[in-house]
Amino acid sequence: MRGYRRIRFWRGVYDLWAPVFDPALSIANFLLGYDDPSERENLVSLLGLRPGDSVLEVGAGTGRNLSFLQALTRNQHGGQAGGHNPESRAPLVVAQDLSGGMLRRLSCACRVQSMAEALPFSANSFDAVLHYGALNVFGDPGAALAEMLRVVRPGGWVVASDQGMREENRHGWRFRVARGFIPFFARRPPLDLVPAEAEDVELHWLWRGDCFAIRFRKPVE
Ligand SMILES: C[S@@+](CC[C@H](N)C(=O)[O-])C[C@H]1O[C@@H](n2cnc3c(N)ncnc32)[C@H](O)[C@@H]1O
Repeated sequence: MRGYRRIRFWRGVYDLWAPVFDPALSIANFLLGYDDPSERENLVSLLGLRPGDSVLEVGAGTGRNLSFLQALTRNQHGGQAGGHNPESRAPLVVAQDLSGGMLRRLSCACRVQSMAEALPFSANSFDAVLHYGALNVFGDPGAALAEMLRVVRPGGWVVASDQGMREENRHGWRFRVARGFIPFFARRPPLDLVPAEAEDVELHWLWRGDCFAIRFRKPVE
């Protein structure tokens, strides 16, 4: 299944999952032995955020990363002035997602419903861009990564992360069980899809080496 059909399919899936997404994730975290809050803290720390920075989360879901993003970007004025553009009154943290069902479950950020493959923001709009959890299901993951790079400011970091176990984790029972329930654990980090113009491309491992995080930067012109 490719392109728009795939995008529509996953929007339907996440709309249906939305009411049970958080409890289901808590059970998965328990079974796989994850300390989910500290993994999210580690993920968000890769963005190099400073107080007053603006940040977009692509595929924000029910908003499990938002409190970490807000804690790092809050400024002395209560977190309303906008990052690299001090004149702006835009919210510091913007939550984008394909699924209205998922977005309706978060109340604490500016919510935007759209596809990751066509972000409704102008170029250089954010100091940093985060994505976690849908790179494996995007209709066009290369286009989504290109969009993340387009909307981040020159010099800003993009961090894109999803399930896909590191080599050392692919031998034991955890891999077989995890892959049995969620085949995406067998995926490899799609480093070949990072836009050619990106700089400082790095690969990080989180969630006990079960999730990759690709970090890259927009060149300063
Ligand atoms: C596994 S959830 C992760 C949610 C959140 N980032 C987290 O850390 O809990 C994946 C999210 O990506 C969204 N998503 C899937 N395909 C998308 C697309 N093409 N564009 C934007 N969001 C998408 C889903 O609706 C869902 O909310």
